Amino acid sequence: MISRRSLLKSVSAVAGLTGFSASQAKSVGSGAAFELTAGLFEQEVHPGRAKVRFWGFNDQLPGPVLRYKKGDVARLMVNNALKVDTAVHWHGLRVPNEMDGVPFVTQDPIKPGSHMLYEFGLPDSGTYWYHPHQSSYEQVPRGMYGAFIVEERNPIEVDKDVVWVLSDVKLGADGQQVEDYGRILDLANAGRIGNQVMVNGKPAGNSNTFAVRSGERVRLRLINAASARIFGLMLAGHVLTVIAYDGQAVEPHAVERVNLGPGMRVDLIIDCMQVSGSTFSLTDAGGRGAGVIARLEYTMEKPLRSKAMASSIRLTPNTLKEPDIERAQDHYILFQGGMRGAPVIGKIDGQPAKINELMEKHGLAWTMNYSAQHEHALMHDPMLGFRQGESVLLHLINETDFAHPMHIHGHFFKVLAVNGVRTRFQEWRDTVLMGPRESVDIAFVADNRGEWMFHCHILDHAAGGMMGTIAVD
Ligand code: C2O
Ligand code: CU
Repeated sequence: MISRRSLLKSVSAVAGLTGFSASQAKSVGSGAAFELTAGLFEQEVHPGRAKVRFWGFNDQLPGPVLRYKKGDVARLMVNNALKVDTAVHWHGLRVPNEMDGVPFVTQDPIKPGSHMLYEFGLPDSGTYWYHPHQSSYEQVPRGMYGAFIVEERNPIEVDKDVVWVLSDVKLGADGQQVEDYGRILDLANAGRIGNQVMVNGKPAGNSNTFAVRSGERVRLRLINAASARIFGLMLAGHVLTVIAYDGQAVEPHAVERVNLGPGMRVDLIIDCMQVSGSTFSLTDAGGRGAGVIARLEYTMEKPLRSKAMASSIRLTPNTLKEPDIERAQDHYILFQGGMRGAPVIGKIDGQPAKINELMEKHGLAWTMNYSAQHEHALMHDPMLGFRQGESVLLHLINETDFAHPMHIHGHFFKVLAVNGVRTRFQEWRDTVLMGPRESVDIAFVADNRGEWMFHCHILDHAAGGMMGTIAVD
C-alpha cells in the first residue's frame, strides 16, 4: 500500500498529461494513480438553461476517463464527499474480490467524509467502466459513472480512438432530475428510463456533432451507462465493424445495428470513406428509440487517404481460460417476474410467492431460481458455489416478457448459444442481453476466488430482486 501523500503527489504528476478534445470525454491522462471524489455538482445539460444537479466523480459528467495499459497496476483513491455511503465497482475488470466494490459483500461501504484506496492489476486490455454498487438504481442515474480504458500493449492502427459514454437523464419541468428512483412500477417493468439521451454528458441529438476527416479510421468505444435504456444504434452511409464486446476481442464482423443493453460495451471500427463536407446520422432504433443520437460531420479537409486503411483491425485477445464444456458443472437459472408475467414467481419462507404480494410487501418483482433478494444486505447466501478452476455451464432461461442484460462479476463468459442455436462468434462477454422469453447458454472457468455478484444490469431490476451471487473457493 502506498501512503496517501505519495498517491496525491503522483496524481498531480499525471494531471499535467490531461488532454481532451470537445468531442471526447475528459480524460485524466494515463498513469498509475488517480483520485476520484464522489460528490455533488452542477452541470449544464441544455445550453442557456439552468444547470442540472448531479452526483458524480470529480465534478464532471461522466467522470474522468481512466486510462491504463494492459499489465499496469491501477491505484484509485475514492473519496466520498456525498452525504450517503458509496462504493465503486470496476465493471468488467477481473480484480481480486476485495477490490470489487460491492458493499456488504466485498467491502464495507465508504462512509461520507471517508475514503478507500482500490489497488489492482490489469490483466486485460479493453473498454470498461466504473460506477457505484451501492443503491446503484439511484447513484448511477444521478451521474456516477465513467469510462475505464485499458490499452493494448500493441494497439491496432487507427486515426482516432474515441470513447462515448452513453446514458440518459430524466428531467422534470423545473429542468432538474426527477428524483423518483426506485419506484415499484419501474422496478417491475422496463426500469427507469430517462427522457434525454446523453453522450459524454452532453445531450444527444442533431446538434451533437462529431467531426471526421474523409479517409480516417475511427475506433469508437461505446459504453452503455444508462440504468435501463437499451440502445439499438445505426449509422447511415458507413459499415460498423465490431472488434470487441465488453472489452474482449471478437472476430471482426460488420453489423447493421449495435444492440447495447445497460452495462455492455462494444468497440467499433468505422472507416470514414464518404466525401468531405457530407454528414450522416447515428440513430437509436432501440425499443425506446430516441431518434438521432449524433451527426458525423466530414470536415472540408482534403481526404487523408482514398482507400480505407489496410492494416489489420484484429485485436490481440486477452488470455481467458477455455471452459471444458464436457466436464462443466451445469445449472439452469430461471428468471421470472415483472408485470405481465406469471402470478407466482418464487417462494418466500417456503411459501409460493405471488408477484403482487412480493411487490406490495417487499418491494420486489423478480426472481432468479425462485428467489428474490434485496440489494446486497441478504447477499451472503450464494445461489451457486464452485471450486476454483472448475468449468461452469449456465443455461439462463428468461421466462419474463422483458429483456435483461445479465452480468457476472470477476469473470468473462463465452456466449455459446441463444435459444439453443450456436452463436456465430462464440464471443466472450461480462454482460449478455437476454431477449424476452429467450434462453442463453454461457460458459466460463470459475477461476477468480470470492463471492461474485450475478445480476441484471437494468439497475431497477437488480434492486427489484434480480440479483444473486456465485461463490468460487
Ligand atoms: Cu456494472 Cu454489478 O455491475
Ligand atoms: Cu432485468
